[in-house]
Amino acid sequence: MKVALITGGSRGIGLGIAKALAEKGYNLAINGVRDESGVKEVLNELKAYGQDVIYCQGDISKAEDRESIVRKIKEHYGQLNVLVNNAGVAPKVRKDMLEIDEENFDYMMNIVQKGTFFMSQLAVKELIAGKEKDPNFEACMINITSISARTASTNRVEYCMAKASLSIMSTSFAVKLAEFGIPVYEVQPGVISTDMTTVVKDKYEKLASDGIIPERRMGTPEDIGTLVAAMATGQIPYCTGQMIAPDGGMGIWRL
Ligand SMILES: NC(=O)c1ccc[n+]([C@@H]2O[C@H](COP(=O)([O-])OP(=O)(O)OC[C@H]3O[C@@H](n4cnc5c(N)ncnc54)[C@H](O)[C@@H]3O)[C@@H](O)[C@H]2O)c1
Repeated sequence: MKVALITGGSRGIGLGIAKALAEKGYNLAINGVRDESGVKEVLNELKAYGQDVIYCQGDISKAEDRESIVRKIKEHYGQLNVLVNNAGVAPKVRKDMLEIDEENFDYMMNIVQKGTFFMSQLAVKELIAGKEKDPNFEACMINITSISARTASTNRVEYCMAKASLSIMSTSFAVKLAEFGIPVYEVQPGVISTDMTTVVKDKYEKLASDGIIPERRMGTPEDIGTLVAAMATGQIPYCTGQMIAPDGGMGIWRL
């Protein structure tokens, strides 16, 4: 048996990852902020892959919620093999970096930076516990950041700063977990078609067809799911701490 926790796994990129891992035989723990009644259809869609699926409702920025997410996984499955840190938010309002206020800054940092770090701290202890019981226990940590971790946007600098901090979090966990034989990867998606990008969809589809994205399309949750499944199943060996950017070539320097 193998178990994967996907934070923010009930829609968008997280759901694409959940489907790809279910296809590879992982039982799922899907975290999200909505009540379970609001994600019933999604959970049934995932159960159709034939794996066990539980929903761990909780806000990763709250300590008691993080604890209840991990407690539920321990009670139901008794183990955790893969942690996918995917939950994230866009800024509530896009404000110029000279104007952004502390409330909006804290909103971003509390969820994306602090929430992800402390969620990881708790969950990786389960990965380590599995490895300590059995050296052949499969374990892996995957962090979904963004090309915004290294691409400046002056009207959402707090998002870029939060994601950039997760890059160093990722390499730090890579060093820490290497002694237990647990690889850590970072995924920096480019522009992916989800609810988060609905407001900028027309703009990015135009940029894609103009060639700003060399592969000439926005990415899909399935693109990210395929990559994460390869990482989780050990298809990218001897690469702990590495980052891969599924961005259709958008990040390539060109003249
Ligand atoms: N869509 C893109 O173009 C794109 C590009 C690069 C990176 N990303 C990153 O990928 C991840 C998924 O993005 P998406 O486009 O699927 O967005 P989305 O808004 O569709 O999904 C985000 C998920 O995270 C959950 N979430 C938000 N706050 C949470 C919290 N406090 N606790 C627990 N869950 C929470 C939401 O409920 C939702 O299920 C995010 O981290 C995002 O920053 C997205």
